Amino acid sequence: MKDLENKNDLTFKASKDFIAKSYIKKDDYDTLYKESINDPEKFWGEMAKKISWIKPYSKVKDVSFQKNDLHISWFKNGILNVSYNCIDKHLKTKANDIALICEADEPGNSKKITYQQLHDEVCKFANLLKYNNVKKHDRVTIYMPMICEAVFAMLACARIGAIHSVVFGGFSPEALAQRLIDCDSKLIITCNEGKRGGKIIPLKNNVDEALKIKGVDVKNVIVFKHTSNDVNMEKQRDIYYHEVEKTLKKTCEIEPMEAEDPLFILYTSGSTGKPKGVLHTSAGYLVYVALSFKWVFDYKDGDIYWCTADVGWVTGHSYIVYGPLANGATTLIFEGMPTYPDASRFWQICSEHKVNIFYTAPTAIRTLMKAGNEYVKKYDLSALKLLGSVGEPINPKAWLWYYDIVGNKNCPIVDTWWQTETGGIMLTSLPGAHLQKPGSAGLPFFGINPILVNDSGEEVNDSGNLCIKDSWPGQARTLYNNHKRFYETYFQAFPNKYFSGDSALKDSDGYFHITGRVDDVMNISGHRIGTAEVESALVSSPYVAEAAVVSYAHDIKGEAIYAFITLMKDVKDCEEILKEIKACVKKEIGSIAVPEIIQFSPALPRTRSGKIMRRILRKIASNEYEDLGDISTLANSSVVADIIEVHKELI
Ligand code: WTA
Repeated sequence: MKDLENKNDLTFKASKDFIAKSYIKKDDYDTLYKESINDPEKFWGEMAKKISWIKPYSKVKDVSFQKNDLHISWFKNGILNVSYNCIDKHLKTKANDIALICEADEPGNSKKITYQQLHDEVCKFANLLKYNNVKKHDRVTIYMPMICEAVFAMLACARIGAIHSVVFGGFSPEALAQRLIDCDSKLIITCNEGKRGGKIIPLKNNVDEALKIKGVDVKNVIVFKHTSNDVNMEKQRDIYYHEVEKTLKKTCEIEPMEAEDPLFILYTSGSTGKPKGVLHTSAGYLVYVALSFKWVFDYKDGDIYWCTADVGWVTGHSYIVYGPLANGATTLIFEGMPTYPDASRFWQICSEHKVNIFYTAPTAIRTLMKAGNEYVKKYDLSALKLLGSVGEPINPKAWLWYYDIVGNKNCPIVDTWWQTETGGIMLTSLPGAHLQKPGSAGLPFFGINPILVNDSGEEVNDSGNLCIKDSWPGQARTLYNNHKRFYETYFQAFPNKYFSGDSALKDSDGYFHITGRVDDVMNISGHRIGTAEVESALVSSPYVAEAAVVSYAHDIKGEAIYAFITLMKDVKDCEEILKEIKACVKKEIGSIAVPEIIQFSPALPRTRSGKIMRRILRKIASNEYEDLGDISTLANSSVVADIIEVHKELI
């Protein structure tokens, strides 16, 4: 309990001026929040009027929890188009306003796209998709760097009713192929090459490799020429965008979509080796991200907003693309990384474009904090008025640095907790309504009813598994082609409640403090990676007999991967083998999943029934080996001492 009490100590409040201008003040929150929980139909029915409909909905909410199943539907019978809401809707008043600012990897190289230009580019792109026979509900995979064409591609799919699946550009050909096969994509959109931190990312080459893998059935590849280098192009199959661009019309009719028609699939890690295709639909998702964007970031017309996430993750979908554009905002997209050419890159961009709202991940904040204040101080950041954090718990030290040095003690910080499956922000402090507490994700957003339950499913007050009661419009509807897994993963553990997989504390002010995942998912630099995925990549090496993966606390990444490996008989552990094993993970998943530490061990600790005791390995990886608890149930308890010895030598 002491821990929990301490969490109440430090609080921060937005300035009087900020509060006076904010959309939601304390009293508004209290009243509206109650309304949203007591009468969700009324609340969301009103909020949904803020988006444009071709035909209005007849029922706001239709959610049924059954035994071993559930169905979620919002805004039934409504017809709309998401691309219309993000573009056409604004053309009357904002055709010449900037929709996108695209900042390249190298400084001094940015471009601005107005809403009219966004319209034209998206239409051209949509026409090309149609010309290549892409129809409503077809799946299109997007494998792109962080450039404006990635946004055009997403909105082009939405315009014609195709379902996009954006795959993070850092994933390997194998990981890409797995995702192409799962949703049976016939078309992929990519670039010849991407650039990040001065390095070339061979995207088209990766696509070529992925397309050789058995089961992939892609008929066409659309390729943007982003760098000057040429790449292999297969006649018939591959289309260079710039070669056909002139033939494409700048208008394209929107496809009328049902409220529950799918908008996108986004693959994310779970506790098995196979990634899950989280599926979001059109109306509920749009209503939720549009509203949460406006109120959480307190976005006002004319503000310049920048979210540094990658479009390959959900944050990029909801808060670079759909939330901001649905509000007619100016949203910045940056191809590069925070430390290239040096650790001032973020601050230089903020200063150059007079960014008002800045949203990033704790890993980036910790990296830049370590680099030193001088990188921040040399730029004028006076345009900043609000800061945001997402993706992992932010430790108070990093929070305070962000607040003092980046925000100059003048910008409220919204620490936003949410997930791929939730579609949008679920817990946060609203900047004009709430005190902020470093290290706490704050209070529920409207319509969100979070509770904590113990392992037996009983509701508890201060510490437990974080669940959400009932439904909200931005909630994922299913896992692509696997509704059973959807139910089992999220609704089976605690019936009739969505289980997030996170644990949390709740303090006496009702603020939530996320304490981490309770499942086999790790959070490495804000990226979700399943232990099973990494283990299966490790055992794909012919040298590896067995692997167990855990995470441990890391100063910069939040968590880092620690792999315990048993080699095949007669294989000697040496640098070469280590390199090859790491290369296997890079090949199967990508660099983000390569373990920070690999430890070889003649055996792994097992129970008598043969299960690896990860609990023990987790403790060893975290240097807590003095207190391993009861290990008498192990079949081979003698290996533990050896593993500890080798661990001590390694670190
Ligand atoms: C973690 C990212 C603490 C959490 C939007 C969650 C956070 C997982 C926060 C989802 C936060 C996200 N504080 N932890 N503010 N935001 N997380 O699906 O463990 O990539 O379950 O969505 O990130 O990651 P995902």
